[in-house]
Order: sequence, then structure tokens, then C-alpha cells
Amino acid sequence: MMARPIEWLDGKLRILDQSKLPGEQIFIDLDNYRDVVLAIKEMKVRGAPAIGVAAAYGIALGAAGIKTTNKDEFLAQVNQVMQAFAASRPTAVNLFQAINRMKKAARGDSVAEIKNSLINEAKQIHEEEVTATKKLSQLGAELIKDGFTLLTYCNAGPLATAGYGTALGVIKAAKDQGKKLSVFVTETRPLLQGARLTTWELRQAGIPVTLITDSMAGYFMKRGEIDCVIVGADRIAANGYTANKIGTYTLAVLANAHGIPFYVAAPTTTIDLSLTSGYQIPIEERSPEEVTHIQGVPIAPEGVRAANPAFDITPPSYITAIITEKGIIMAPYTEGLKGMGSKVS
Ligand code: MRU
Repeated sequence: MMARPIEWLDGKLRILDQSKLPGEQIFIDLDNYRDVVLAIKEMKVRGAPAIGVAAAYGIALGAAGIKTTNKDEFLAQVNQVMQAFAASRPTAVNLFQAINRMKKAARGDSVAEIKNSLINEAKQIHEEEVTATKKLSQLGAELIKDGFTLLTYCNAGPLATAGYGTALGVIKAAKDQGKKLSVFVTETRPLLQGARLTTWELRQAGIPVTLITDSMAGYFMKRGEIDCVIVGADRIAANGYTANKIGTYTLAVLANAHGIPFYVAAPTTTIDLSLTSGYQIPIEERSPEEVTHIQGVPIAPEGVRAANPAFDITPPSYITAIITEKGIIMAPYTEGLKGMGSKVS
């Protein structure tokens, strides 16, 4: 049983530093909000639902550290804390859902009362994420048949959700139903979440795993070795267009070309009903150094130009179903997603 990747402990936020896995399992205690913002930017904590949960606790931490007892001054400072989180990573909408929830929870007669209610709200957001990911995993498991070989991408397990996992949650739940499964994991350049984190989590869950490079996916699909692809999501627009780790679109096109089902698993906190087109989803651009280097080691000539969009958009025509805790949705997605998630942007 893995230790909790995010935990509120004695008024501090304890996180498992995902950037050091699988080599080292280091827990860091964060006692001020700036360090939480940094942990999100540096992807010590990552994955859409986990970012939302960490930000909620980070806002509670930031509020707890504010000295003034004047309510208006206090609320103005809490607002600045929230803005710092809003500027940390732009794509995962769970972050903005969490910030909105915390804004609404910043109510009370006194500063002390508001501080308390923010801590309670963060705990509530965390609990709801655990419940939602567990539920969607159980629902999604029905789509997975005994003997399936699945392919998954990036990392969508407990580390990424502070809960049960989304894509990996579905796989784990199917295994718990007694199905024999094996999983191909693509390494997920540039930051190798698949190679470093997903293989680690699947091994802990006792599920046979084969690691391949990103470029090998088509080869194995063509050979008929993949029964379905399942991934998580960072933001799903009202029309079903889905943002997920860069490279997801490529896999979806490949799956479509080979007649392989392509599933997206995400809690409804990942659904952004305010966006009518998926191409309105902001795509994070990260440092080119993540492409020119692997774990600090240069792999390209010094000074070479590199691009690093962290996410891409998969159109709904490539998605067989979206698995949420409120049900499994199939095309037409604009109809099916109605009333799911909320308007955030
Ligand atoms: O940049 P990351 O590692 O935060 O990106 C994570 C992903 O793209 C995951 O697939 C997504 O957040 C789903 S998490 C259950």
C-alpha cells in the first residue's frame, strides 16, 4: 500500500516529491503557500486532480499564515494567494475549480472562522476527489474485458489524483474484479511520467507492465497486441475535446486507425463547461530545457531551439467514451456532458 501522495498533517501539507520518483521516495512538509505554488510549477506534485487538491490546501496554508485580524485586509491577501495559484499551471481545470470552491468558502464572521472554513473546504475537496476517482474507476472497469492488454499514457494513478487514480484507477478496479490484464506504458517524453511513475504504480498494484518508448505504440497496435487505450485528462471542454499530456492526440489517431477503443477517464472536476471549443483550452508551454535534457543530462547540441507544449487536444471523434463518476458518456458529447462539471473559465 502506497503512502498518501498528498496529506494535511498538523497544519502542514505533506507531499511525496514526484520529481524524484522512482529513485527516491522523499516526502516534503510544506508550511507556506509559496512553496506549494513552486511544488506545482516544478511538478513535485502533478496530475490534474492532485494539482487541484494541493492548491486548495496551499490556499488554506496561505490564509493561515496571514497575520492581520482585519477581515477586509485578510480577504484581500487571501485573494493574492489564490492568484499565485491561478498562475502556477494553466491547463488542468481542476486547479481553477478548486480555487473557485475556496473563494466561495472564504466566508465567516471573523478571520479565525474563515481560516478554519478554508481548511475544512480543502479537506472536503480532497475527500470528494478520492470518492469520485474510486467511483469512476468502478464504472470504467466494466469496459475492460478479462485478458485485455491495455495501453496507457503519462500518469493517471493515485499520484496524479491524490485519490484512487483515473486511467490507472479503472485498470486497478478491473483487476480487483478478477480480470487478468497486462498494460503497455509509453515513457511519456519529455518528463517521463509513464516510465517513472506509471510503471512504479502498476508494479505496486501487481499488474504486469511493459514499458515502451512513445514511438513504439503504433508498432504494437498494428500487431494486434493492444485491446484498448485508456488515458486521463487535464480539461474536457463542453463539446468533448480533451486536453491531456502532449502525445495523447497522436495515440488517439493511431488507435482510431487500428480500430482500437480509446477511453478517457476523468472526474467531473476536469470538465469545463464554459469552453464551447476544445481549442480554447490554454496549453502550457514549459521550458525547452525539458526537451534538450533528460533529468539534467543534455541530449542535444547546446543552444539548439526546442519547443515544449505540455498538452495537446484530442477531438471527440477519436474518443470512444469518457468515463466519469457520474457515468460513462459517449458521443454526442455536447449532449452527454450537459450538467457535468461546471463553468470555470
Ligand atoms: O504535466 P502533468 O504530469 O501534470 O500532466 C498530467 C497528465 O496529463 C495526466 O494524464 C492528467 O493530469 C490526468 S491525471 C489523472
